[in-house]
Amino acid sequence: MQLQSFDQLKAKHPEIRADFTIDQHWERYGDGEHAMWRTLYERQAQVLKGRACEEFLDGLVKCRLVADRIPDFERLSDDLERITGWRVVAVPSLVPDDIFFDHLANRRFPAGQFIRKPEEIDYIEEPDVFHDVFGHVPMLAHPVFADYMEAYGKGGQRALKQFGALKNLARLYWYTVEFGLIEKPEGLRIYGSGIVSSHAESMYSVESPSPNRIYFDLERVMRTDYRIDDFQESYFVISSFEDLFAETYKDFAALYARLKTGPAYKPGDVLSTDRVHTHGTHTYVGGSHQAA
Ligand code: PHE
Ligand code: CO
Repeated sequence: MQLQSFDQLKAKHPEIRADFTIDQHWERYGDGEHAMWRTLYERQAQVLKGRACEEFLDGLVKCRLVADRIPDFERLSDDLERITGWRVVAVPSLVPDDIFFDHLANRRFPAGQFIRKPEEIDYIEEPDVFHDVFGHVPMLAHPVFADYMEAYGKGGQRALKQFGALKNLARLYWYTVEFGLIEKPEGLRIYGSGIVSSHAESMYSVESPSPNRIYFDLERVMRTDYRIDDFQESYFVISSFEDLFAETYKDFAALYARLKTGPAYKPGDVLSTDRVHTHGTHTYVGGSHQAA
């Protein structure tokens, strides 16, 4: 994953603005691209029944995200804005950290505008419109999660400018927003967007005996490295979105100071201090590139 320079992006997207937003150009999607959305959507709708949390599934309905076609961001944003005040803006791909945080802090979710090619159906390196919209937008329709994402954006600005703690904060995003699980009376459920947009990981994350599933602890998460190119070796389990928000909506200054020293953990570690839901067998052998 290489961050492209603004000039490189401008050559491809002449209309690009200083905040890295571009026009979605919805009218330019071809039938094959809409068909790819449909294939991915239908496959995930199947696998997510009984696996994704109800907040995610409700969000799909509330935002009127359907299989038919790639959503038009303007239409989608008008719905989402009425629900929680968020909008979706198109970006070419990954954007610089300060730009990303500024969007989140202002309740704008930057979403990739392109869709993966047929040969990338199970794995792409950069987030496309399916991951960004199907994966992220439904949770933005949940009031508490919507607040969490805005707070994260503001926290990102602080982490970047004042604390040099981006690495720690990025781990929190990874293990919650992207790969989070939640414990419900009916069992473990998925809310992380990196899981809900991946067919294989939707099953693996909740059913495989291989990974650890560890109850969420803020400092523990912020000390834990993650893998970006394969299934996770550990998932962190929250008890509710209210709880996650309460845990993170405190001043991190003292925590960041503590994090400057002390251990960092590997993705598969289990600590004696962990509250463990599942101690993984680690029988899954990585390298099959099926994540995201
Ligand atoms: N509480 C964090 C801080 O003081 C900000 C934050 C909130 C980060 C919610 C992540 C999620 O910087
Ligand atoms: Co994502």
